[in-house]
Amino acid sequence: MDNAIMLNLENAGVVFSQEIKDRAKVACELLYNAKGEGNDFLGWVNLPSATTDNLLENIRHTSLLLQQECQIVVVVGIGGSYLGARAVIDALSNSFDAVIRDRKYPLVLYAGQNIGEDYLFELQELLKNYKFGIISISKSGTTTEPALAFRLLREQLERQQGKEAAKRLIVAVTDRSRGALKTLADKQGYRSYVIEDNIGGRFSVLSPVGLLPIAVAGFDIKRLIEGAKLMEKNTSQYIEFEHNIAMQYAAVRNVLYNKGKKIEVLANFNPKLHYISEWWKQLYGESEGKKHKGIFPASVDFTTDLHSMGQYLQEGERILFETVISVEKSNFEYRVIPDNDNLDGLNFLAGRKIDHINKMAELGTMIAHVDGGVPNIKITLPQLDEASLGQLIYFFEKACGISGYMLGVNPFDQPGVEAYKKNMFALLQKPGYEAEYQALQVRLSK
Ligand code: PA5
Repeated sequence: MDNAIMLNLENAGVVFSQEIKDRAKVACELLYNAKGEGNDFLGWVNLPSATTDNLLENIRHTSLLLQQECQIVVVVGIGGSYLGARAVIDALSNSFDAVIRDRKYPLVLYAGQNIGEDYLFELQELLKNYKFGIISISKSGTTTEPALAFRLLREQLERQQGKEAAKRLIVAVTDRSRGALKTLADKQGYRSYVIEDNIGGRFSVLSPVGLLPIAVAGFDIKRLIEGAKLMEKNTSQYIEFEHNIAMQYAAVRNVLYNKGKKIEVLANFNPKLHYISEWWKQLYGESEGKKHKGIFPASVDFTTDLHSMGQYLQEGERILFETVISVEKSNFEYRVIPDNDNLDGLNFLAGRKIDHINKMAELGTMIAHVDGGVPNIKITLPQLDEASLGQLIYFFEKACGISGYMLGVNPFDQPGVEAYKKNMFALLQKPGYEAEYQALQVRLSK
């Protein structure tokens, strides 16, 4: 298969039994026959092949309007309504995107992913000097963090550009019929896109949630979907375990977890993948961390973090395994130059590609960590482009669904995230939370 991402389990130290292969297959089938828990959230399974050219064209058209009118587009959202877009945009953008002048496409910034007063203040100060637009994304339409940021930014946009212009420069991505964002979008006449009921936030990057911001940033969403489509085909329930990398990844995680490896560290050797790891952590953490079970997903950026977390990984508690995302080919070529004096002693590297040095760091790290008792899984991307990322995203989603079912949890709900919200609303005295407020006052006064 040309340009397909690859999974290498040679250094995972796992031999699959027939029983585990069968369990992975049954778990994969549950995603298709919808007989598992959370079966009303399976819209993502065939999302790539169900995405029409019409939708892609429509999104591209909206992105062109924003590109023509805005220097900056602020994506407002949190969790699944933000991480996927940021992961793809960061992976494909110039590392110094924020300071590039004469941009072809608007700079994409983010809000609503925190409640940082200084962050919001500084963002609003910056936006005073630019023509900006907003993509407001919230499936429920009621999440506090993005709702708060959207209120402030909307007001600023209306003040700076006028109410009528603001209507053109705001796009909402939300539920078909419910939620405050839907009400607001209808009332103000914002252009909007629907997040289907059967697609949960962390599985929504290949819907307008991710596609619109990615298109605005200037990237090819058709190729992203084509990559995902390829992976959808290659990981279907009909592809046998031996050829189905989603089943294999889910199975190897399950075996390692049962051997006491409770932490999976997702490592990359390319700083552009930092937010892919952030997205992955949400996908796996929120899908599997239930019933006091589940692998804890952690992440590191190498070689940077070899100088911080490297020691722990090599010699700390042996409760972890490592999954490395390796990018086979860099997009640019840059070689080490010779130096007559060689005072830094680096002439032995002269003429070599920087990426070759990075690859030797990667190989050396893998050998050291495996020798140190850290099982290694390797995922290879041919290169950092839309097609590879589309494959990677769908691969992780599919494996996550299978893995959650193998673990015995509902991978598609997130009841645990409500606990903090309940306390926060009570502490803020939101109407309807009077009893909880009183109970917390008693508790905190002790
Ligand atoms: O994956 C999820 O469901 C969550 O992370 C949500 O995406 C996040 O809480 C944001 O929710 P909403 O899109 O409703 O604002």
